Amino acid sequence: MLLVSSVNVASANDVEVLHWWTSGGEAAAIGVLKDDLSTKGVGWKDMPVAGGGGSDAMTVLRARVTGGNAPTAAQMLGFDIKDWAESTGKLGNLNAVAEKEGWADVVPAALQEFSKHDGNWIAAPVNVHSTNWVWINKSALDAAGGKAPQNWDELVAVLDAMKANGITPLAHGGQAWQDATIFDAVVLGVSSDLYKSAFIDLDEAALGGADMVKAFERMTKLRSYVDDNFSGRDWNLASAMVIEGKAGMQMMGDWAKGEFLKADQKPGEDFVCIRFPGTQGKVTFNSDQFVMFDQGDASDAQVAMAASVMNPTFQSAFNVVKGSVPARTDVPNTDFDDCGKKGMADFAEANSSGGLYGSMAHGHANPASIKNAIYDVVTAHFNGEYDSATAAKELAAAVDAAK
Ligand code: BGC
Repeated sequence: MLLVSSVNVASANDVEVLHWWTSGGEAAAIGVLKDDLSTKGVGWKDMPVAGGGGSDAMTVLRARVTGGNAPTAAQMLGFDIKDWAESTGKLGNLNAVAEKEGWADVVPAALQEFSKHDGNWIAAPVNVHSTNWVWINKSALDAAGGKAPQNWDELVAVLDAMKANGITPLAHGGQAWQDATIFDAVVLGVSSDLYKSAFIDLDEAALGGADMVKAFERMTKLRSYVDDNFSGRDWNLASAMVIEGKAGMQMMGDWAKGEFLKADQKPGEDFVCIRFPGTQGKVTFNSDQFVMFDQGDASDAQVAMAASVMNPTFQSAFNVVKGSVPARTDVPNTDFDDCGKKGMADFAEANSSGGLYGSMAHGHANPASIKNAIYDVVTAHFNGEYDSATAAKELAAAVDAAK
């Protein structure tokens, strides 16, 4: 009798990749990777788990690995990579391909911080995203006076004008990671000192202090511009509201640009990208990296995938579609649109001037336990459970308890 194994099992030349790229723009970017791999004879087995920030993906991944069924590779962010490397020891070692291809010379130190563990390469960074962006419908902005806001007061004036013009000023989805994504930008906009002392240094006085109360007050103000149906809405549906002109703007990482491009929108013509008012020159970044699961020696397919991901031509093609910028310093900006060129220039400027910070919302400031403690308070406040003074106190207490 012939015993047939499941058709679902990946062959030696396939990679099964766990990721959370489930929107239209994200799927288009994955298509660039799949196509590139297929030219190398490597097939793609998809393992999508929706949810920005990757919390749900990490839960599914843990179940898979605990059950002895690790995927070939997984998308991972910042401190989750460190956590997986330290707590499981199951991540593959990519030193051979990294050394052969000279990754150390071209990957910015801020990313290497997460790609390496104990001196070994354990992840291949495919991009750099950042969270302090605003995506504005161009016609809605024109109808609201036409000037992109440069500071908080100008932002409020534009939001008020959009409201008066009868559209939803702010497109948002009420999910903890989306609330936290806005909070990244709002805290940075109050001051970079506040961002650094609260989220990077976890300083109790900053977490519970007057400037943090101010940041929460700004969140309350932004909450007043969101429509009634925001609860639970996926981020890409919020992007669609801006694309369709039903809403004026979205405050979201530059993966949102992938949605605008997928809908054939042109930067400067159909939409406008700006840094969150008051944060120009500063960047809260996150980098999607691929870790490989240890299979003894890295398989040919794993090495091929790591090499593809790090190839400069691929990094240009992929990031043009994804909305992010390359994870290497030697990729020309020629093929990028104006928002992408700005993203590359802003990252370089922030990196050299000390204005580059890991995104709290997307796992580049703290381990998940602390990130989740912050998420809980930010969402409870956004949903009206705490006033702003209470929220700041609760934030300091929650972070202290999670440390
Ligand atoms: C990832 C992006 C992704 C976004 C929304 C972020 O955490 O870094 O690549 O597009 O979540 O899914």
